[in-house]
Amino acid sequence: MGPVLGIESSCDETASAVLDAEGHVLAESVLSQEREHAPYGGVVPEIAARAHLAVLPDQVRRVMAQAGLTFAELGGVAASGGPGLIGGLIVGSQFAKGIAIAHGVPYVAVNHLEAHALTARLPGLVQEGVEFPYLLLLVSGGHCQCVAVRGVGQHERLGSTMDDAAGEAFDKVAKLLGLGWPGGPALEKLAAGGDASRHGFPRPLLGRAGCDFSFSGLKTAVAHEVARHEAGALPKQVAADIAASFQRAVAEVLADRASHAMAMMPEARVLVVAGGVAANGTIRSALTAAAAARGFQLVAPPVRLCTDNAVMVAWAGIERLRLGLVNSLDFAPRPRWPL
Ligand code: KG4
Ligand code: ZN
Repeated sequence: MGPVLGIESSCDETASAVLDAEGHVLAESVLSQEREHAPYGGVVPEIAARAHLAVLPDQVRRVMAQAGLTFAELGGVAASGGPGLIGGLIVGSQFAKGIAIAHGVPYVAVNHLEAHALTARLPGLVQEGVEFPYLLLLVSGGHCQCVAVRGVGQHERLGSTMDDAAGEAFDKVAKLLGLGWPGGPALEKLAAGGDASRHGFPRPLLGRAGCDFSFSGLKTAVAHEVARHEAGALPKQVAADIAASFQRAVAEVLADRASHAMAMMPEARVLVVAGGVAANGTIRSALTAAAAARGFQLVAPPVRLCTDNAVMVAWAGIERLRLGLVNSLDFAPRPRWPL
């Protein structure tokens, strides 16, 4: 099989990558639309779709040149086909189909969540890649779920959030604290100078059976705490203590929920964490400890592979192509596409 081109455009990152058939990265690029959306404090779908369209053709040309390949040499072209914002999904999918038609290359519509899930199997990450089955904790701005990953296309959702995603909670609390968007990284930075034991914020669903999540009660508790202070900018130390206490609460909840999920999947030995929130150091340490306590190994891909990227899309494409799983060109992108 020839190298595979991957395209990601489901949210606010435009990304392209070329991997050889074994999964080694030949070229990759991620362009974040952070600057376009920041004035609105969140992703604006129409702006996202237009921004994907504006940068994708050049970006693909660039990664193909870096990889030293022509389109006809590709073994496949894979694009995120959902779930996500429909405008961006259409841009990436149609672009991939165009290449497939023009150059007679197989087309693969990749489930974005499966791409996050399969990232841990990239060779080189953990020796030759994690073997099935394993447990995935996906914590991003739009998703928060525990998934039993048993094979390509063989996933079982063990639990998911009843309200906000973990990253969404970070973003909302960051907003309450007057931080910019996206809030996660800024909140983690602020929390570094705070006292995490200053506030005993609630730990929603802690100890409860199963591995569902909930963050709205925690977020409301933070809002009440913020409201106790005078309107306007919070004193730096007050904000830092709230940030640190919130972050600890989220870390404890995620560790507890993951621990329950591990108990639900005793046949697995590896807990994989993916999604933007997996970049958080406090959360990684809490999950490492929770995994160790259950005799699991925690695999956390490097941050650039945890957040949205096209390496994971190309890799998921390779996994599918190896099994002969290709899509026809009438595939319609799916805003909702649960695992
Ligand atoms: O996976 P991702 O890049 O995009 C999707 O949502 O699909 O995740 C972005 C989310 C945002 O909510 C962001 O605030 C959060 O991940 N995030 C973090 C950190 N870095 C990113 N949350 C907590 N701590 C971080 N260091
Ligand atoms: Zn994602």
